[in-house]
Amino acid sequence: MYIIGGSASSSVSKDLSKQLHIPLAEIVSKRFPDGELYVRILDDISGEDVIIVQTTYPDPNIIELLLLQEASRESGAKSITAVVPYFGYARQDKKFENGEPISAKLMAQLVSKSTKKVLTVDPHKEHILDFFPIQAQSCTAVPELATFLKGKKVDMVLAPDKGALVRAKQTSQIIDCDFDFMDKTRIDGSTVEIKPKNLEVKGNNVAIIDDIISTGNTMAKSIFELKKQGANKVFVSCTHGLFAADAIKNLNQAGCDEIISTDTIISEFSKVKVTPCITKKLKIKSK
Ligand code: R5P
Repeated sequence: MYIIGGSASSSVSKDLSKQLHIPLAEIVSKRFPDGELYVRILDDISGEDVIIVQTTYPDPNIIELLLLQEASRESGAKSITAVVPYFGYARQDKKFENGEPISAKLMAQLVSKSTKKVLTVDPHKEHILDFFPIQAQSCTAVPELATFLKGKKVDMVLAPDKGALVRAKQTSQIIDCDFDFMDKTRIDGSTVEIKPKNLEVKGNNVAIIDDIISTGNTMAKSIFELKKQGANKVFVSCTHGLFAADAIKNLNQAGCDEIISTDTIISEFSKVKVTPCITKKLKIKSK
């Protein structure tokens, strides 16, 4: 058995290799002068079960995953499991307007090529798993995020909208504190509205938990509202820290006390590891 680590998920693949005592295959990867990607698996993986680990964000990492899958198939791997810590394009999970693609469905079909099984972490919505024509599963990093937040003296956990309440509830149960949700309306891809709602936050430390921080607007507006209502510290946490454009600046300007994300997408805020939830789900007995 081998683990094949894509360049977007080197920390997760190394951790998986260590925890499961499965060797990491040696990969050569380079760009041709025109920018196209070249990959080669140096180890003999013929007849072996392989786990390819690669986040599919940003776009070049999708191609890398597909090439690694194809290289594994061509090399005679017995089975291929794709672990996709962050599954990109998941938010376009339906046609919101006529003429749009269901991007998540297309990505699911592409990633399923020559693969037996797919595992991803905190997909934007669970129903995207139905888009895969193969066995597709998810695991959640919420317990790991909650355990990290427990050390921060958090009094209340908030979801940025009602749909994310389950995540906030699960987090609050681990921390042993209150939970609630904020009243968010999305106007478009980069505009959200957080309506004022009275929350018991005065003098309290609050953690907001979401699946994704992209532009940071959802979190920035929430922080602003919470600080206006007298919250003491506000921590923002997410599984997937995309931190697009001026996200960090927006969060800091809103008065954010700490930004916490996992290592599904590597950044300076990747303070929580997702490997524990992946290993539990893979159900591979370590040697
Ligand atoms: C939306 O439903 C997601 O759960 C996140 O709240 C959203 O993707 C965050 O986006 P942004 O950081 O751009 O507000």
